[in-house]
Amino acid sequence: MSPEGTHKIVEVTASGRSGYQIVSGARTRLPALMRAAGVDGSACLIVTDDNVAELYGSAIENDLEEAGFDVSTFVVRPGEASKDLEVVANLYRWAFANQVDRATPVVALGGGVVGDLGGFFAATVLRGVPLVHVPTTLVAQVDSSIGGKTGVNHVSGKNLIGSFYRPTLILTDTELLSTLPDREWRNGLSEVLKHALIRDLAFFDWLRTNWDSVLRREEHIVPEMVERAAQIKVDVVIHDELEGGLRRILNFGHTFGHAMERIAGYGSLGHGEAVALGMRAAAFLSAERGADVDIDALGHLLQDIVPTSIPPMPIDWLLQSMRRDKKRVGEVLHVVLLEEIGSAVVASDVTDDELRSALQHALA
Ligand SMILES: NC(=O)c1ccc[n+]([C@@H]2O[C@H](COP(=O)([O-])OP(=O)(O)OC[C@H]3O[C@@H](n4cnc5c(N)ncnc54)[C@H](O)[C@@H]3O)[C@@H](O)[C@H]2O)c1
Ligand SMILES: [Zn+2]
Repeated sequence: MSPEGTHKIVEVTASGRSGYQIVSGARTRLPALMRAAGVDGSACLIVTDDNVAELYGSAIENDLEEAGFDVSTFVVRPGEASKDLEVVANLYRWAFANQVDRATPVVALGGGVVGDLGGFFAATVLRGVPLVHVPTTLVAQVDSSIGGKTGVNHVSGKNLIGSFYRPTLILTDTELLSTLPDREWRNGLSEVLKHALIRDLAFFDWLRTNWDSVLRREEHIVPEMVERAAQIKVDVVIHDELEGGLRRILNFGHTFGHAMERIAGYGSLGHGEAVALGMRAAAFLSAERGADVDIDALGHLLQDIVPTSIPPMPIDWLLQSMRRDKKRVGEVLHVVLLEEIGSAVVASDVTDDELRSALQHALA
């Protein structure tokens, strides 16, 4: 029985190992859900960022304390720069000062930055303590909290240090999203749309039908949207937990998008904005190769997510960046394409001419 007022989305079990639960429900249920998931320590470490701490930190601390946890909170600066080994070193110091033991849970309360950082910290301190995700951005609720990837950045590149580590519990409360800035909402919608495009035609049609309500974050729409988008990520990672094959389709729009983020200069394009432009390129390329994709229908949705002004990005630089990125990790360039809406394939034979015309189309 799940605690009252909550609703289990899914029990994630893969490769015969024990699973974890993604539960949608009010954040006030967090202590009860942690106990129900087998967390029995008395100390509890919360990792969060300034923005989230300000909005939700003390309420969640109080709930946990009332339930008998002895809580300490580490607040990092918001933003990608906190995914850094020096911050991890500070987290270790803090944890040992607070007598962390193997049963002490780490609650990662925040967006993908806090989830990746807090997750990596939980995975490595004392060789691993229970990890609880409370994702507070749309990106985190439908994407980054699911699938077990944790990590930090390195001067050589993004996400180059990390590990796969399963959380004990993910508690998704869509009410937390009401305070998200509009740009973060649109960044998250890009991943939602991506999930529909690669895996679920019915969900894509649902998004099209409800698009205005989605953009307005209407209460009757958001929980269903988050649940359906999260479920798609679960379905993909459950079949390919360690990224041997299928999981690659989650990179739809990302090969183009990552190059754009780099060439535009990090921060000038949001990740979701770059991915939206990348999906425009990938959908165009798919159609050029004969896929049955209605570029206009898709373009109509994408135009609400792409940035209003696109920074200058020379096509040749983008091409070079896409190729170089893969060479560095010893891989050929894989581009995820659509066979039709709801079904993706990975192509490794895409030519520079094809890439060039897809980029031209996306950035026009
Ligand atoms: N592990 C994975 O599989 C995976 C997948 C996708 C992305 N990621 C990572 O996720 C990160 C991006 O995550 P993100 O988009 O959530 O960004 P983020 O964590 O930086 O959050 C975006 C901004 O929203 C603020 N915020 C968070 N929750 C809020 C709320 N409820 N109300 C108001 N403001 C709030 C944050 O303080 C921050 O300023 C990247 O580092 C990326 O590499 C990881
Ligand atoms: Zn992404």
